[in-house]
Amino acid sequence: MIDNEKKYVLVTGATGQLGSDIVKELTKREIHTIGIGSRDLDITDSEAVFNFFNSFKFSHVIHAAAYTKVDKAQDERDLNYEINVRGTENIVSGCYKYSIPMTYFSTDYVFGGDGDRPYREDDEKNPLCEYANAKLQGEELVKKLNEYFIFRISWVFGKNGTNFINTMLKLSETKKELRVVSDQIGSPSYTVDIAKEVVDVIKSKKYGIYHLTNEGYVSWADFARKIFDMTKKDIKVYDITTEEYNAKAKRPKNSRLSKEKLYSEGFSKMPTWDDALNRYLKEINVI
Ligand SMILES: NC(=O)c1ccc[n+]([C@@H]2O[C@H](COP(=O)([O-])OP(=O)(O)OC[C@H]3O[C@@H](n4cnc5c(N)ncnc54)[C@H](OP(=O)(O)O)[C@@H]3O)[C@@H](O)[C@H]2O)c1
Repeated sequence: MIDNEKKYVLVTGATGQLGSDIVKELTKREIHTIGIGSRDLDITDSEAVFNFFNSFKFSHVIHAAAYTKVDKAQDERDLNYEINVRGTENIVSGCYKYSIPMTYFSTDYVFGGDGDRPYREDDEKNPLCEYANAKLQGEELVKKLNEYFIFRISWVFGKNGTNFINTMLKLSETKKELRVVSDQIGSPSYTVDIAKEVVDVIKSKKYGIYHLTNEGYVSWADFARKIFDMTKKDIKVYDITTEEYNAKAKRPKNSRLSKEKLYSEGFSKMPTWDDALNRYLKEINVI
């Protein structure tokens, strides 16, 4: 039951990987929360979003809804743009009208990936694909607000959705050998860990842009090896290059994000990606 006298934290994308764990984390901390999926509110419908913001009182809006099919976005350009740019613009408008602080999630893919060190928040952007381009446009819209957080996260895995780990486990049911890209390096990140840190950062009101991932860096190929090692599956993983894999969407080779800023602001150290992987595999009951 929604009480119109109370202020809520609104979470969009609450049926997705990250949004669902953010709702859990807020609820655990006894913060009044409304979590919505696309059936509750289509964020591309500006009138519906306007009416929604008129109907309830929000203390903060956490916008985790997005179009996240990176390769498909190369063909579904309009849909990607509608959800990731126009949809975000509608949410920003609601926040602007009622002076509500907003949190937005962006991606390591806004960078070009040719640098030789982990990217800092204000490094030059060079999105290589449609999805990344739209997410970067979303960032620019959010930056028009006075009070906002932008978290750039990477290689996300969580219980409520499809991700690299689930794909590897599915493939392992029918294959004995796999070819996996070994020249893209980044940080796999668990939605449970991101959610905890996000709520801590939001509570601090230290607004701005933050890079937020699990600790440590790995290639997709070594990540796959670790998944099969932990699940005791006898699958041979062969290294291939980005060019050999030839995905529809171009992705940065250096996807490493620096968390120097997060830590210098005093926020707690993130767990390592392999510790997170272990907990995730337990959560989905495969180990
Ligand atoms: N996944 C990654 O590896 C990754 C990496 C970096 C950054 N990010 C960013 O992190 C955030 C969370 O990603 P995720 O992986 O948790 O996403 P996800 O699991 O794909 O979930 C997407 C969510 O967006 C909602 N949504 C899609 N279209 C909508 C619409 N028109 N109106 C309202 N809601 C809509 C979906 O709702 P329904 O399910 O109800 O349709 C779902 O709840 C996104 O901003 C994403 O860009 C993700």
